[in-house]
Amino acid sequence: MLKVLVCVSGGGTNLQALIDGVESGLVRDTEIVRVISNNKNAYALTRARQHGIENVCVSPGDFPDRAAFHEAFLQAVEEAAPDLVVLAGFLVVIPEQMIHKYRNRILNIHPSLIPSFCGTGYYGLKVHEKVLERGVKVTGATVHFVDEGTDTGPILLQQAVEVKAGDTPQSLQRRVMEEAEWVLLPRAVELFAQGMITVRDGRAEIACRQ
Ligand code: GRF
Repeated sequence: MLKVLVCVSGGGTNLQALIDGVESGLVRDTEIVRVISNNKNAYALTRARQHGIENVCVSPGDFPDRAAFHEAFLQAVEEAAPDLVVLAGFLVVIPEQMIHKYRNRILNIHPSLIPSFCGTGYYGLKVHEKVLERGVKVTGATVHFVDEGTDTGPILLQQAVEVKAGDTPQSLQRRVMEEAEWVLLPRAVELFAQGMITVRDGRAEIACRQ
């Protein structure tokens, strides 16, 4: 069984897609062992609770400084002893120490086609606002491994989504989630669980099924 830890900050629709994938058997040989949120009000925590998944909140506000928060966060990660960490809308920068320890074992989902509309300041609705401002006709989502940079790690999966006339940041965000994010994230974890992914020279490759 692949032990997966999911880190969240908000609504948790990507977490839900993953839970649904595991429960329906689309994502095989996988157990979500813990959900960590930095925000005690995150609805994602309720989703975890509803599905009997252990959930904890580690909030920066509860610690005197960043170092103390990082220590508590790392401890919450280590306790779960995960094989894979999934950042599903997690708005906290991952401590470098953790990136080293879990090299090529931390996945993030980003709501654009990296390397467009990503990097510092591109999160949540802001991504979709920028997409509409620029007037691109195609956007999408990306699942990638996490390295020391912001949205710079090896790309695993991408799915394009059409930008339509009259879109608002909200309507576009919803379409990107429905058509791309909620499909890609369970697929990525299934590929990982089946040992289908290799990372070489900064690029992720998916083995061909025989
Ligand atoms: C998603 O758009 C994801 O791509 C981004 O943060 C958002 C999280 O949404 N990283 P949710 O909490 O999974 O609903």
